[in-house]
Amino acid sequence: MWSQFLGNVRPAVHEHWPKSALVPAALGVGGAVVCWMLLRSRKKTLEMGDGWWALGAPQQREDTSVRAFTLEVSDTEIQDLYQRLDRTRFISPLEDSQFHYGFNSIHLKRVVSYWRNSFEWHKQVELINKYPHYKTTIEGLEVHFIRVKPAHLPPGQKARPLLMVHGWPGSFYEFYRIIPLLTEPSKYGLNPNLAFEIICPSIPGYGFSEAPHKKGFNGVAAARIFYKLMLRLGFGEFYLQGGDWGSLITTLLAQMKPECVTGLHLNMAFVPKGGFGQTISLLLGRYVPWLVGMTREDVNRLYPYFEKNVYALLRESGYMHIQATKPDSVGSALNDSPAGLAAYILEKFSTWTDPEFRKLEDGGLERKYSLDDLLTNIMIYWLSGSITSSMRFYKENFTRDFLYSPANTMAVRVPTGIASFPCELMHVPRSWAKGKFRNISSYTYMPRGGHFAALEEPELLARDIQHFVFRVEKLGQ
Ligand SMILES: *[C@@H]1O[C@H](CO)[C@@H](O)[C@H](O)[C@H]1NC(C)=O
Ligand SMILES: *[C@@H]1O[C@H](CO)[C@@H](O)[C@H](O)[C@H]1NC(C)=O
Repeated sequence: MWSQFLGNVRPAVHEHWPKSALVPAALGVGGAVVCWMLLRSRKKTLEMGDGWWALGAPQQREDTSVRAFTLEVSDTEIQDLYQRLDRTRFISPLEDSQFHYGFNSIHLKRVVSYWRNSFEWHKQVELINKYPHYKTTIEGLEVHFIRVKPAHLPPGQKARPLLMVHGWPGSFYEFYRIIPLLTEPSKYGLNPNLAFEIICPSIPGYGFSEAPHKKGFNGVAAARIFYKLMLRLGFGEFYLQGGDWGSLITTLLAQMKPECVTGLHLNMAFVPKGGFGQTISLLLGRYVPWLVGMTREDVNRLYPYFEKNVYALLRESGYMHIQATKPDSVGSALNDSPAGLAAYILEKFSTWTDPEFRKLEDGGLERKYSLDDLLTNIMIYWLSGSITSSMRFYKENFTRDFLYSPANTMAVRVPTGIASFPCELMHVPRSWAKGKFRNISSYTYMPRGGHFAALEEPELLARDIQHFVFRVEKLGQ
């Protein structure tokens, strides 16, 4: 509908129409028929559509400049934060409840006290600004991203462009521990022959990317915007990586523009639920796993199925139901209370890292993360006031008919790598993933780690990304 905006980005798109089809087409009607048949035989791709998310009617001309952005500390905002933290009205937890009822408020007191008295936001901002940040306007929205090139490359080597997409309740900052490993592999003992140039955007409505002002901003829209971003930056082909929403968004991008995607690496694969085959494989898998293409490790991770998947998923997905239905109500509370926001978000960093952490008084938060890293992510939500818009993404995505959306039934044909972390919310055996991801180049049972893999186990994840790219490019390791 707003195809004039596509005009900005068109030059870098290369459509893979069969060249052989061009000549006969010129020869007349018969040629046209041949051409039509050849085009029809192209693999199906996801309809990209178009959008406009600023207030009001679409503008005729969009500013396509890419502008440097530096995060600044605002003392007014810090004073406001301190006042709110000082006035927190804590609840008292039930005896012996650890993290079973949600974030334990005795521990919340400690976190808030650290935040108020010891956390040094100035220092964290310096760290955030260590990488170059930019903003550019796409479909009416200011899109924020960082772009990190390797400082030095061995002679004759090119950096592979890699778009990394975060999820909820994360941010671009989740990637700060893995970026050095991927851009300077030789410095950190990884394979020196494979370095990446990282493009790491904030999903619109998250952190420093502007929130959509109109309804309907879903995964397809995010994928399209990131595709346009990559074109604007001059990348015609690139790798993709994501978990959580990042996994959905990068998968959609691969379905939309497979010709631009060299490979897709996921640390959480979404596959359509159910189906007769999956039911059979569930029933038989426990007893004769080999018959349904499951390994011992799949069995360990899947069974007892009800306990590990159905019940755990129900217990852990209440937030999703709220966010997919009435995000603005709870959003009003979280946007007003930094302590409440921290409890809501950090509970996920506890339980999604390891479900056993629910049994600990402190949620095990600092077993895998530093409080500085965790609070930096919270600050990104707090200062940008983006918690509500981040939650709305659930509502826009889980529309009534989402199970039947074209993306769900469409295969992904680009080379795909799956890193299966043992504490991920749901285990997907390779045999299930194959139904959707038709070309799995690598599938790894990761030895440890959970949902926030990039922040929790950066080295394991970085090595698996390298491993995947070696497979895709058929290079010796
Ligand atoms: C929403 O997310 C689910 C789960 O990832 C996915 O199956 C579905 O296709 C998404 N819907 C849209 C409209 O992108
Ligand atoms: C699958 O991906 C590999 C690269 O990992 C590629 O060489 C191969 O041609 C692809 N196969 C299909 C059927 O597309």
